[in-house]
Amino acid sequence: MAVHKIAVIGGDGIGPEVIDQAVRAAEVAARKHDSAELKWNHLPWSTAYYKQHGRMLPEDGWEQLKPHDAILFGAVGDPSVPDKITVHELLLPMRRKFDQYVNLRPAYLFAGVPCPLVGKKPGEIDMLVYRENTEGEYAPVGGNLYPGTENQIAIQTGVFTWKGCERILRAAFEAARKRPRKKLTSITKSNAQVYGLGLWDDVFNAVRKDYTDIDSSSLLVDAAAMDFVRKPEVFDVVVASNLFGDILTDLSAAVTGSIGLASSANINPTKKFPSMFEPVHGSAPDIAGQGKANPLAAVLSAALMLDHLGLAKSADAVRSAVAKVLAERHVKTPDLGGNHTTTDMGNAVVEAVK
Ligand code: NAI
Ligand code: MG
Repeated sequence: MAVHKIAVIGGDGIGPEVIDQAVRAAEVAARKHDSAELKWNHLPWSTAYYKQHGRMLPEDGWEQLKPHDAILFGAVGDPSVPDKITVHELLLPMRRKFDQYVNLRPAYLFAGVPCPLVGKKPGEIDMLVYRENTEGEYAPVGGNLYPGTENQIAIQTGVFTWKGCERILRAAFEAARKRPRKKLTSITKSNAQVYGLGLWDDVFNAVRKDYTDIDSSSLLVDAAAMDFVRKPEVFDVVVASNLFGDILTDLSAAVTGSIGLASSANINPTKKFPSMFEPVHGSAPDIAGQGKANPLAAVLSAALMLDHLGLAKSADAVRSAVAKVLAERHVKTPDLGGNHTTTDMGNAVVEAVK
C-alpha cells in the first residue's frame, strides 16, 4: 500500500475543527478508492503555540515540514495577537519558502447551494482560477521615507519576472488542456500598469503559441470584475497576478454560494518542496468553538491535495460525496441555512464517500 506523509497544521479558531473533518474524509477515500495510506503528522503550530514559545513554529520548523508529501492547513489568526505575527510568520512565508507559485482556487456552483445571482443553474459556474503566488504586487519590496511626518513617502513596488509569469501561465494552460471547454482567460491591467503587466502580456502572447488548441484571450481586470458577476459561466480557466487573483477569487467564492465552500491549493508543481492545501477562509473567531463552521471548504481542499498526490479516484470520490450531501440538503451548517454542526457535516461526507 502506497504511503503518503502529510503534515497537518490546524492552527487557530475553526481551523482545527474543519481540518479534523477533512482528514477523516480524505483518509476514508484514499484507503477505499486508491488503496493508499495517508500518514498524518499533526503539528500544534498556532497562536497558543506562539504564546507558549514566543514563535509560531519551532526554529527548525521549515526543515521539519520539508520531508512531507503535502501540508494540510486550517487557518491562523486570533484577536489576541496581531496578524503581523500569526499570518506573517507562518502562512505567508510558507508560500515563498516552498516556492508554491500556483495558487489554485476553483469556483463551482453546487446543486443545493443558493446562488446570489438570479437564474444560474448548478454546474453552470465552473472555473479554475490560477493566481500567481510568489511575486507581483505582493512582493515585499518598497519602503518609507520620513515616516510619521506630513512629508511621508511610501513606495510599494510590483515585481514581475519573465520566469515568474511564464511558469504560472504554463500551469494554467496545462490545466485548460485537461478541461472539456479548453478555454483560458488571462487577466491584467496592462493599459494602466504598462511595465509589470505589459511584461505579463508579452509572456502570455509568447506562451499561447504553444497552446493553439486552447481558446485563449486577455481581459482587463475591471471588465473581468464585471463579468464575474454578470456572466461568470463564460469563464473556464482564469489566470491572474497575485493581487488580481486574490480579489477576483473572493468574488468567485461569493457568486458560488458560501465562503464555507471555497477551497484552495498552494502548489509547487516541481515537487521540490511540499505543496499546501487550505480553505480560503480564515479562523472565524466569531463562530469558533461552537461547531458552526462549514467544513466543506477544508474537505474540498483535501480533495485538491489528493489530486496533487496522484490519488485522482479518491479526489473525485470526495468531490462527489460533497456534491451529494449538498444536493440532498439533509445536512446544512448555518452558512447554508441549517443548524447542523461541523461534525454532522463531516459525518455525512464520510458516509457518502463510503
Ligand atoms: P474569516 O474568513 O475568518 O471570516 C469571515 C466571515 O466568514 C465570518 O463571519 C466567519 O464566521 C465566516 N466564515 C468563515 N469561514 C467559515 C466557515 N467555514 N463556515 C461558516 N462561516 C465561515 O475572515 P476574518 O474574520 O476576516 O479573519 C479572521 C482571522 O483569520 C484574522 O485573524 C485573519 O487574519 C485570519 N485569516 C487567516 C487566513 C488563513 O489562515 N489562510 C485567511 C483569512 C483570514
Ligand atoms: Mg483574500
